[in-house]
Amino acid sequence: SGASANRRDLEGRRVVVSAGGTREPLDPVRFLGNRSSGKQGIAIAEAAQARGAQVTLIAANLEVDEPEGCDIRRVSTALELQHAVAEVAPGADVVVMAAAVADYRPASVSESKIKKDQSDDGLTLELVRNPDILAGLGHAPHAGTVLVGFAAETESDDARLLALGRAKREAKGADLLVVNRVGWNEGFASDENEVVVIGDDGTIVTRAHGTKLSVAHAILDVVVSEATTAAS
Ligand code: CTP
Ligand code: CA
Repeated sequence: SGASANRRDLEGRRVVVSAGGTREPLDPVRFLGNRSSGKQGIAIAEAAQARGAQVTLIAANLEVDEPEGCDIRRVSTALELQHAVAEVAPGADVVVMAAAVADYRPASVSESKIKKDQSDDGLTLELVRNPDILAGLGHAPHAGTVLVGFAAETESDDARLLALGRAKREAKGADLLVVNRVGWNEGFASDENEVVVIGDDGTIVTRAHGTKLSVAHAILDVVVSEATTAAS
């Protein structure tokens, strides 16, 4: 909301935001990627900065301009993102995992460009699991850090969407989970978003829709009240 945009309620706080989408290389010219533009994560970084926070943005292949005034760590793969998080998350007041992290990466990366095999009309790739960065943070002691996860889901039924979000928050050990619906035409490149934020006990703590910046402020409103509750 406009009111929260003028607050300096994150003054002196250290906020870490991951944004964008990881790319997992197959060879020097190809990767497995996803359609995350990074817009919602960047909006959170900008909003946190406007509210007085010192922001570290872990930027994974952003398709939009980087915000000014943040400490920016550029990464490409999930493993690089994990490394950057391990460096900056300890001691942060807030960690927001808005990046779309590839669940799998190619089991091996070819040193040279993979050529077509003329005798075969298909190709099978072997993939291995990437670490779950958010769950790694959520399952380790993180008192004093509000941990915010995201879930982009294609589920169209509201009740089932919420159930997915609740299960995901629980599984990851996140304090808050922001659920948004995505599809071929909604979510990613858009300047608008519609989210539901799920809290500790699985309840809906807020719903927000509008520009990605206004959604960012609504999410930070919840983060600030969580941080205040935790401190008191
Ligand atoms: N995430 C992460 N590390 C991964 C995968 C996801 O830290 N390897 C984080 C994302 O940044 C996001 C949250 O976990 O904040 C949820 O991501 P999502 O892909 O929705 O969840 P998954 O557990 O991977 O479930 P799914 O099988 O639905 O993809
Ligand atoms: Ca995933």
